[in-house]
Amino acid sequence: MKKEIAVLKGDGIGPEVVDQALKVLSVVAEQANIEFDFKFGLIGGTAIEKTGQALPTATIDLCKAADAVLLGAIGDPKYDNDPTATVRPEQGLLSLRKELNLFTNVRPIKLYPALSHLSPLKKEKLEGVDMVIYRELTGGIYFGKKEKGEDYASDLCIYYKEEIERVAHLAFAAATKRNNKLCLVDKANVLESSRLWRKVVQGMSADYPNVKVAYLYVDNAAMQLILNPNQFDVILTSNMFGDILSDEASVLGGSIGLLPSASFGNEFKLYEPVHGSYPQAAGKNIANPMATILSAAIMLQDFGLEKQATAIEDAIAKCIETGFTTADVNQSNGYKCSEVGKAVCNLLVAQQASIINEI
Ligand code: IPM
Ligand code: MN
Repeated sequence: MKKEIAVLKGDGIGPEVVDQALKVLSVVAEQANIEFDFKFGLIGGTAIEKTGQALPTATIDLCKAADAVLLGAIGDPKYDNDPTATVRPEQGLLSLRKELNLFTNVRPIKLYPALSHLSPLKKEKLEGVDMVIYRELTGGIYFGKKEKGEDYASDLCIYYKEEIERVAHLAFAAATKRNNKLCLVDKANVLESSRLWRKVVQGMSADYPNVKVAYLYVDNAAMQLILNPNQFDVILTSNMFGDILSDEASVLGGSIGLLPSASFGNEFKLYEPVHGSYPQAAGKNIANPMATILSAAIMLQDFGLEKQATAIEDAIAKCIETGFTTADVNQSNGYKCSEVGKAVCNLLVAQQASIINEI
């Protein structure tokens, strides 16, 4: 098997965490006799510096030609407090999502018992928590018409039925493979666009008779995620609500540095950690590479390499159990980003050696 992977390291800690994922993928390649052809492209603040654009055409072409895209992180504080900036790193990611029509973003929230002490929630609240957020990614207020004048600014939140249906179908399908529960999060008591989401999802629910559908307003959902997170199985929601709720849900497990994500449409697939560019840590080799490594594992799964994906997940779980982790989850004895990457590689090699010994 040969796969071409567009690698966009991006900004801040992006390059460091992606390098660890590439190390792990290289071990997998050797073990499973697969060829990964990594092709590198610019995006975000680094792309602006080098080309003046957050998403150069060359990057779009690279991504479209590849079998998958692996992305690090986007964002540079230089632009954050400058509302007059005309080019912004984030535009790179948003344009890429649109260019590749990545209308679904999947964010699984899995907890590691060994880290329950890091969660802001009490241990008993965390029991049984295992959910996945299906976030619509190419519509809504993120992409509606923007307008501004001297003393006003506006972002339109518009959704079309088809945009809701295509992501909702995937969320329903995911629920049937999990615990048959789907929760639509919206603000249908106030927003017309949310009422459309509710109508469309209600209409579709007949096609999925085994799935129990619940509806929550986003304010209540934000509260329920803290009060009773184990009620959720699949959460389906719009672009902005999904952005906010996935950051909230990510801290249940103690660190946002552990959460992978996958984005896809009908043609292209992109894998990236949920966390941002963490500029304060850039270049220090202290960032947690696990979210990016786990994103690469989802990529392998989508390539049909289930065994290899599981081996990576097991290696990460082992690192967490044994405390071989970065400072965000290991305050007393934090390992470096590159050391954790190496540990995952070593565990993969050891796993294979032990399998061979058993034979
Ligand atoms: C995310 C990020 C992005 C978003 C930013 C960087 C544009 O926060 O992927 O969650 O808001 O979608
Ligand atoms: Mn976000």
